[in-house]
Amino acid sequence: MSRNPMVVRNVPALRRALDGLRARKATVALVPTMGALHDGHVSLVRLAKRRAGRVVVSIFVNPTQFAPTEDFGSYPRTWKADIAKLAAENVELIWHPDVKNMYPERFATKILLEGPATVGLEDRFRPHFFGGVATVVGKLFTQVRPDVAIFGEKDFQQLRVVTQMARDLDLGVKVIGSRTVRERDGLAMSSRNVYLSQDERRIAPTLYKAMKEAAARLRAGGDVETAMAAGRTMIENAGFALDYLEARHAETLEPIGSLKEGPMRMLVAAKLGTTRLIDNIAV
Ligand code: PAF
Repeated sequence: MSRNPMVVRNVPALRRALDGLRARKATVALVPTMGALHDGHVSLVRLAKRRAGRVVVSIFVNPTQFAPTEDFGSYPRTWKADIAKLAAENVELIWHPDVKNMYPERFATKILLEGPATVGLEDRFRPHFFGGVATVVGKLFTQVRPDVAIFGEKDFQQLRVVTQMARDLDLGVKVIGSRTVRERDGLAMSSRNVYLSQDERRIAPTLYKAMKEAAARLRAGGDVETAMAAGRTMIENAGFALDYLEARHAETLEPIGSLKEGPMRMLVAAKLGTTRLIDNIAV
């Protein structure tokens, strides 16, 4: 029988709960989430369990990473189902602050990012996003002080930004990326997939298909521009409004001319109706 996890909502309660978890020097893994948990999140929790003695999951829909025009208000909130999923995974502790606990009145500090946060991918279309993510993740790291933290590769630029920040600020956290979990037809799992209409849901896996075809062209010796052009056409013909499809250096996320220049990652973002989807694959 799985027991319901303990839920703490303010920093002093979190610290007390962590003191308990850390008894006998157990290592702690943090899985930061915004709730609306799906099998992708469950795989993060399972990886966390393999990497540390104790697992803390944070659930906080972070307002500072949404622009006023974005979906903060309508972002799916599925608290009861989330708790049931985490209980089934035997997660012991959930960190669930409200906005006032995370950003008390007169909160006035931001983290300024360069490097992977300014390479012209997500940052070009969501200029507020990584500042908000870095601030909240920086806070989550100092609140929980985990030994390791698990992030999905699905948000690949976010994974690179957080890894860089943890290193630059000596936060003492090892950031670990976890493989993207996909539906049977290839669509990357995402809390936002619930926004898709039936027709859109049918079209959505084209993103993954287009990347796989473009990657095959590159591996067969094709040049980056031709492969990207074919991928972009396929995505646009399926009915997406494309933000970007790019092949980048997998570490720096800088533009890369060929597979000979280093490990390559292909990244895509596109809108289907009002839903914006992102995905990426190793080439
Ligand atoms: O990937 C997410 O769910 C969020 O960006 C994160 C890392 C939990 C920060 O709010």
